[in-house]
Amino acid sequence: MDYLEIIGKKNLSGSVKISGAKNAALPLLASTILSSNKVQITNLPNVVDIRTLLKLLGMLGATFNHDNTNISIDTINLTETKATYDIVKTMRASILVLGPLLARFGHCEVSLPGGCAIGQRPVDLHLKALEQMGAKIEIKAGYILATVDGALKGATIVFDKVTVTGTENIVMAAALALGTTTIVNAAKEPEVVQLCEVLADAGVKIEGIGTNRLIIEGTNRQTVPFKPFKIIPDRIEAGTYLCAGAITNSTVKIENVVPMHLDAVLAKFEEMGYKILKDETSVTILPANEIKPIHITTTEYPGFPTDMQAQFMAVATMANGVSVIDEKLFENRFMHVSELVRMGAEISLNGTVATVTGTPQQLIGTDVMATDLRASSALVLAALVAEGTTKVHRIYHLDRGYDKLEVKLVNIGADIVREKE
Ligand code: UD1
Repeated sequence: MDYLEIIGKKNLSGSVKISGAKNAALPLLASTILSSNKVQITNLPNVVDIRTLLKLLGMLGATFNHDNTNISIDTINLTETKATYDIVKTMRASILVLGPLLARFGHCEVSLPGGCAIGQRPVDLHLKALEQMGAKIEIKAGYILATVDGALKGATIVFDKVTVTGTENIVMAAALALGTTTIVNAAKEPEVVQLCEVLADAGVKIEGIGTNRLIIEGTNRQTVPFKPFKIIPDRIEAGTYLCAGAITNSTVKIENVVPMHLDAVLAKFEEMGYKILKDETSVTILPANEIKPIHITTTEYPGFPTDMQAQFMAVATMANGVSVIDEKLFENRFMHVSELVRMGAEISLNGTVATVTGTPQQLIGTDVMATDLRASSALVLAALVAEGTTKVHRIYHLDRGYDKLEVKLVNIGADIVREKE
């Protein structure tokens, strides 16, 4: 197992090229199950979660040529329709094959994703929506067994909660259903938007893209001709490097981004006193005279993303005063708190609310353990300003979602080496 050894208090400066978005690439790769031709995809992030999904698609019978950021994937001759436990247990997002497999083949089995480090994370809303479209769903021995007579039928789905992968699963299912599906209270994250755009380019009629009401005209099980496409930039990776600039109070530029996708995050940096410069595809964060505390409530896009909560908590430890962070989406997404406290941070928890009493210069390097993807990046950020050396263990979590994190940070002046335990 690898760990990162980080010597803190180095000045950062320079620019970071942002990779393709993991959370866009995952549903888009799953959506190739709906394609009638080989699909060319560029700007794929080079991260473990993508390789996991490719392994799963390979087990289903897909073939591909994959070189780091480009892939040509052929799902025409899929033979298998079972996503087994050994894959799904390593990545919950494997659930994204459920909608497209069922829509194309009329049956599939997908292992039920269990709980995870950030909470229960049920998939009940995915299943309820598929049932409304005519699917018969059974849960047997830890597997979701889904079948439908003929095609899934268009229906009006009203999601009780805004769910990102739930919306994506139903959009993909609806694309090959018989008739019209309306999704009310749909997620409108940029990753959902790109999935809809790619399907629309392939000839699926979709109205309301980018809103919370999607109307999808199904093709009655006809696969559709995908055009080549490029994955959108990773707004969470982008936000994480801006946090590296923020926590060290240095100037850091991120390139290859869509600044609009970062609006909520950039507004918080400005509230904290940092200056932000933007052009069409880049954002630069400039030091604050005084880092001010913040109030953050995580919510759906375009609000402040839960996937940036841990990183902002690390930055808040450097502010002058008390920050309040309310995690509204996931009940157990504070695993980084105890590790930050071990580094000297003053953070108290009360239900969904973390109160961070910031003091510049308070963090001290020590051994800490990564617990989930974004919690891990918060620990790396904290280590950048800690006194002395921090060892961040269990960084396989980081490798799931960050493309060469330590290389990108070293390029802008950080002192980080990857070692073996
Ligand atoms: C996706 C992202 C993840 C991000 C999250 C919220 C991917 C691969 N992952 O996860 O990085 O943190 O959106 O922006 O894109 N819920 C239910 N029942 C369901 C589905 C969801 O109760 O069937 C609840 C969840 O427990 C959570 C909320 O709905 O409280 C939102 O979760 P959801 O948007 O579904 O998260 P994911 O799609 O799993």
